[in-house]
Amino acid sequence: MVATQAVTQQGQLPVETNEFVGREAELRQIDQLLPGARLVTLVGPGGVGKTRVTLRAAAAAAPRYPDGACLVELSALRDPQLLPHTIARQLKLAEQAQGAQLDALLAHLGKRRLLLVLDTSEHLIDACAELAEAILLAAPHVTVLATSREPLGVTGETTVTIPPLPVGAAVELFARRAAAATGGFAVTDANSGDLIRLCRRLDGIPLTIELAAGRLREFPLAELNRRLDHRLTLLTGGSDRDGGRHATARNAVSWSYDTCTATEQALWARLSVFPGGFDLDGAQEVCASRELGRAEIAETVIRLVDKSVLIPADPAAGGGDEPPRFRMLDTIREYGGERLAAAGGTDTVRDQFIARYLAITRHFDEHLFGDEQLALFRQLRREHANLRAALEYALTSEPGQQEPRQLARQRDGAELATRLYGYWLSAGLMSEGLYWLGRVLDRFTEPSAQRAQALLISCLLGAVGGDATQAAVVGAEGVSLAARLKERQAEARGWAFLCLAHTFSGNPAEGVAAGKKAHRLLTALGDTVGLIILAAHQCYAYQGLGDLDQAIACYQRGLALFEASAERWYHGYLHVIVSLAYFMDPGKDDECAHVLKLALLAKYELEEVLGTAYSLEILGWLAARAGRPERAAWLMGSAEPLWSRLGARLGNSPVFEQLHERAESAARSALGDERFDALVSAGARHPLEQVVALAMNDAGSLDDRAPAAAHPGAGTLTDREQEIAYLAAAGLSTEQIARHLFMSEPAVAEHLSCVFGKLGASSADQLGAWLGTAAGPAAPCRGEMRLPNDREHAFTQRARIT
Ligand SMILES: Nc1ncnc2c1ncn2[C@@H]1O[C@H](COP(=O)(O)OP(=O)(O)O)[C@@H](O)[C@H]1O
Ligand SMILES: [Mg+2]
Repeated sequence: MVATQAVTQQGQLPVETNEFVGREAELRQIDQLLPGARLVTLVGPGGVGKTRVTLRAAAAAAPRYPDGACLVELSALRDPQLLPHTIARQLKLAEQAQGAQLDALLAHLGKRRLLLVLDTSEHLIDACAELAEAILLAAPHVTVLATSREPLGVTGETTVTIPPLPVGAAVELFARRAAAATGGFAVTDANSGDLIRLCRRLDGIPLTIELAAGRLREFPLAELNRRLDHRLTLLTGGSDRDGGRHATARNAVSWSYDTCTATEQALWARLSVFPGGFDLDGAQEVCASRELGRAEIAETVIRLVDKSVLIPADPAAGGGDEPPRFRMLDTIREYGGERLAAAGGTDTVRDQFIARYLAITRHFDEHLFGDEQLALFRQLRREHANLRAALEYALTSEPGQQEPRQLARQRDGAELATRLYGYWLSAGLMSEGLYWLGRVLDRFTEPSAQRAQALLISCLLGAVGGDATQAAVVGAEGVSLAARLKERQAEARGWAFLCLAHTFSGNPAEGVAAGKKAHRLLTALGDTVGLIILAAHQCYAYQGLGDLDQAIACYQRGLALFEASAERWYHGYLHVIVSLAYFMDPGKDDECAHVLKLALLAKYELEEVLGTAYSLEILGWLAARAGRPERAAWLMGSAEPLWSRLGARLGNSPVFEQLHERAESAARSALGDERFDALVSAGARHPLEQVVALAMNDAGSLDDRAPAAAHPGAGTLTDREQEIAYLAAAGLSTEQIARHLFMSEPAVAEHLSCVFGKLGASSADQLGAWLGTAAGPAAPCRGEMRLPNDREHAFTQRARIT
């Protein structure tokens, strides 16, 4: 299942979406090289097929690496500074609490046996070379497989040149693509001469062959040949072979462009601003102009797909029911970018691009704590590369710019970077967030609302995922600037962030004081979201002081503030934090188990490794304390692979480590070493979605009540019914569900009886039987769940409760 793969495997290779031809010799060569080599670079001109060969080679070699193969696609990345972040994200690494992203990445790779694929390195060649060198030194069991138009130039690099396809394979590729495009094409005696001539003319470069095949609907083969012949002789005659191949690919692209209609050309050029693919809506919003209406864009996109200028984006990446997305191969996007620049359109289209992502970001920020939350998180994850590009376009101009367009862009950039705080946190991208905020601060050096906001969000991200002491300093500057500028909401939330920064830098008393100030200001403003955030931070601060009653009171106050029942992020956050207070408070084990189950549901659904790990781990401690050593062992075991992805168990907190050891030694002495170790590794290997279901069901053993296949009736439940069914299966009473969902008890009971009726179940226990595998839009543990740990708040990682 996808979920388990994502936990055990470090990144996945995309599925091939059309047929692959030839390349036996190259694949054999790479296969022979890989076991011995540390860095292999596939070199060749754009469009020759480096990416395709690499993916094949990586898929073939992956089983030889215990940690598998991880593909990092770099063509959408523009800023070399974000190279380590991009790789860490792909490796599903959670960000480290301290230290630079590069150090964390190297430390992680040092412990891995992995094939790391860096696809499309040429535009970041220096950064890739430096990084590859560092990896070779720091990670003895990692092999890097890179593609680039030129070698990286690193000692120890082996290069493999990817030549054009020999004519036989080229003809085969043309015939297959032509058949797909026209619905019927076969090589015959009559057309083989023309075909061979065409493929030779195209120099065997797959990209150009695909582009030409896409035109067969408009031009018969002989005509296509004649047109290309004319064009390419004109353009490439007489150049040397290799330069000639670069030129052929380019010229075939430019020929393809020239034979497009003016509308197609305009759209091709405009769409080049999307490095991360787009859906129709995005294309329409960003590319529309007076000459190019939305309806025309919709039709033109389809025509560009027919012409192989646009290709469907990896369907697995979006998953679910999102609208289809498209992308361009780099060579094609590059060409479009040049045409756009030549027509003087870059600035306008980039402005529209920034405007689109600003609108998405505003909507995200304004609805983050509502029922749409999960959909919004997913949308931003899909748009990650484009969000980055929007920030980049907005924040490229030099600091000190006075030109109005640049000033407006810088303001947009500041708004993007700060309003995305919920994304940076929930996706575990604290250090990337801090990077963009740093660029904002470089451009807003004078007192301004933008500077105050950027300082304050830096404080929040730094407290959670960086240096908390430094965060407290930055936060203090931000708060006093906001106060001076009378930015009331910024100031009030700033104190809430400071509450966390102080607590995490070892001053919970100061944290509590900041929290009180925040509470007063936020209440006066009626800022509910600010108060929810504050409640979580105060819950920590009071635990830091050892005042568990106050901590629990803050938690309850936080919960009571929610209006949206489908909110997961902060619900889960609050449940995890308070579980620690309940665990430390004697006699509160039932409450502790209850909030942990709620946390587990929320965090698992959000695909957050950290919260999932804490929930499973602490449920294990509870089991040990309750004299259920088997359950304790497999639960703690199931958290192990998650901890290892996070870099450290329990954030290396000595206090938590002691609790872990206490639980472990209780279970160990009850079971004996051999049985305990066996259960721990069984827990680690067991599919995570089943472990989650078993944990929720209070199962004693891993094979206790293996969740059955999805009940056929499960799909017929409404969203609300599913949600209630899950909570009931998790052991919540009708009254508790009513409280959790802000519904009346009779309404919950009515929904439950519908659920029982549809599923033919008579008890919550039976509901639990399909808990792990049921599918449906609102089901917290549904099938396509992946669990990458790059989306973490590292809050608990930083918990320094003393
Ligand atoms: N061996 C092959 N079989 C089928 N299609 C191929 C093959 N090699 C390349 N292609 C197709 O040709 C286009 C360009 O290939 P790509 O691997 O992206 O080139 P590069 O990475 O060198 O720029 C892509 O659409 C790709 O799917
Ligand atoms: Mg490529």
